[in-house]
Amino acid sequence: MTRKLFVTTALPYANAPFHLGHIMEYIQADIWVRHQRMSGHEVNFVCADDAHGAPIMIAAEKAGLTPQEFVGQIAAGRKQYLDGFHIQFDNWHSTDGAENHELSQDIYRKLKAAGFITSKTIEQFYDPVKNMFLPDRYIKGECPKCGAKDQYGDSCEVCSAVYAPTELKNPYSVLTGATPIMKSSEHFFFKLSDEKCVEFLRGWALQDNRLQSEVANKCKEWLEGEGGLGDWDISRDAPYFGIEIPDQPGKYFYVWLDAPVGYLASLKNYFNKTGKDFDAFMADPKTEQIHFIGKDITYFHTLFWPAMLKFSGYKTPDNVYAHGFVTVSGEKMSKSRGTGISPLRYLDIGMNPEWLRYYFAAKLNAKVEDLDMNPDDFVARVNSDLIGKYINIASRAAGFITKRFDGKVNTTWATADDAFLQNLRAVTTEIQALYEAREFGKALRAVMEQADVINAYVDANKPWELAKQEGNEAKLQEVCSRLLEAFRILTIFLKPVLPHLASQVEAQLNIGALQWADVYAPLPNQHQINPYVHLMQRVDPLIFDQLFDAPAAAESTAAAATATPSIEPLADEIKIDDFAKVDLRIAKIVNCEHVEGSDKLLRLTLDVGEGKTRNVFSGIKSAYQPEQLIGKFTVMVANLAPRKMKFGISEGMVLAASAADEKTNPGLYILEAWPGAEPGMRVR
Ligand code: MSP
Ligand code: ZN
Repeated sequence: MTRKLFVTTALPYANAPFHLGHIMEYIQADIWVRHQRMSGHEVNFVCADDAHGAPIMIAAEKAGLTPQEFVGQIAAGRKQYLDGFHIQFDNWHSTDGAENHELSQDIYRKLKAAGFITSKTIEQFYDPVKNMFLPDRYIKGECPKCGAKDQYGDSCEVCSAVYAPTELKNPYSVLTGATPIMKSSEHFFFKLSDEKCVEFLRGWALQDNRLQSEVANKCKEWLEGEGGLGDWDISRDAPYFGIEIPDQPGKYFYVWLDAPVGYLASLKNYFNKTGKDFDAFMADPKTEQIHFIGKDITYFHTLFWPAMLKFSGYKTPDNVYAHGFVTVSGEKMSKSRGTGISPLRYLDIGMNPEWLRYYFAAKLNAKVEDLDMNPDDFVARVNSDLIGKYINIASRAAGFITKRFDGKVNTTWATADDAFLQNLRAVTTEIQALYEAREFGKALRAVMEQADVINAYVDANKPWELAKQEGNEAKLQEVCSRLLEAFRILTIFLKPVLPHLASQVEAQLNIGALQWADVYAPLPNQHQINPYVHLMQRVDPLIFDQLFDAPAAAESTAAAATATPSIEPLADEIKIDDFAKVDLRIAKIVNCEHVEGSDKLLRLTLDVGEGKTRNVFSGIKSAYQPEQLIGKFTVMVANLAPRKMKFGISEGMVLAASAADEKTNPGLYILEAWPGAEPGMRVR
């Protein structure tokens, strides 16, 4: 029976590029989805940017952009990550899209008509300078218990006390520094405390196999805990970047109301684009709705979201699968500690995205456990398992088939009782079941056990020796053909995790896109493969030095805002005309080399779109290897008078950032233009 699947990952806030945690979540879901596709099931796999809320509104304002422009810029950067890690969403949308406005308002109207919305006047802190109500995280003050300064409105980082923002002493607005005043306003609530709601949620959350057991237990606690569920405040007052509440001017949905609706909106947007019927799909009892999320947002997905859907008459989720958090070498990811890993840098320095997919998969299970990214462990798993056990099989067999047998396999020996291949095929259902259950680590272990068996066969039959012995041609062809067939089957087993590698193998073996069913369809006799090209490099452990972010000078932006500035003092004010005198241009680094006799300089050859190149010396040798820079787009001062230096004439200057104090951060960071900028474009 073909399944009809609607699969999502959590919608990332559109205020920052992806970090490694996001990529892990997408890889987890992508592996599961690819497994389903290989089984012939229909999958609609969608995501979107979570565009709304006060933090994004405030960040946009700081950047001098409208919220729409701001989230648009973040959205434009998504593709390179998703493509880069082979994450194959069918659609990427935004919660600010028209579909989401309509669906969110529709759900609200239906909840209201069903009697699930109430309103109440509440008092909250208000910033009288900014004229807006302050979310808790924008209020700071002295801890009511220990008196520590600059503590947030909900808890004290010094003594761990938990309190309400109104209990802070000398509270101030983080936005303006003003003393907040108390102001009342009408808020709308979703009646989660309604008995019907509690009853529904108990049945939904505790249904067998719907949630992971740890998550179901948590839900039980929430539902049965002291006081049960409270009503949920779903409105915010203007100014707010969000969706207006119907018939309530100046009131907006709290971002967490419209965010999950964004799942439906993205699916609807996708169906509209591809001419599929959204309503029919959602009404089909066969449709399975599955959400992959991180552990921090289970409350929203296992209480609010199913209840909202249920009482507005929509389909409720079938499963919610929560994962743990990615840590790096045992620590929370943090830029300031140098444990932040930028997924783009990972790709930029030439690390293979499928190493990371393999590594995450090897460490993932169906539980809500944190997952540590550890360089030594990474190198070991990729080099000894993925390359040492799997890739090597092909490299040992394919060469002989190409060189000695015109690329042709001989499978006349492949009788139905070839135990070697039958045993290998026999683990297929077990591996499929492990993928299905999101036990990817166990699935890969099962695959590697098979790889061990195959490698033992290689060692027992020694094709390289057969190749030297006269009269053993047939035996050599048989052994290598059998190995290629085993390699083909292993490739199917690994394809959900390594889709790009699998497509290289398909090209190499000269066959179509492998599906699960192909396990049982061996290469035909005399099938001709293409010449062997090496499939995957080993990881060089030293590459991790380039991967880790240099520890940031400041602990965090929040701390930096209140600490004394550590940056170089600003230069004297200038007028726009003064700035216009500096002609900044986009330059492509077409070549870069060391300068003999200089330990500081690199020689850059720049294309500034003038039809000739420029020669520029730059003191960035300590920070970059020449080959890292070739092909990059940077910014140069193009109208600087040429300067004669010991090594030649420098025809301009490229821009790089550095700290005021070399001791806190000796790094040099050359500017890089966003994709799309072209040589010669003026920077203004
Ligand atoms: N916008 C909300 C989700 C709305 S869903 C309707 C949000 N966004 S987020 O950008 O903060 O997080 C997106 C996803 O990334 C969440 O599932 C979250 O759990 C996950 N992760 C955030 N940090 C993570 C790690 N360090 N490790 C793994 N996943 C992490 O929450
Ligand atoms: Zn305290």
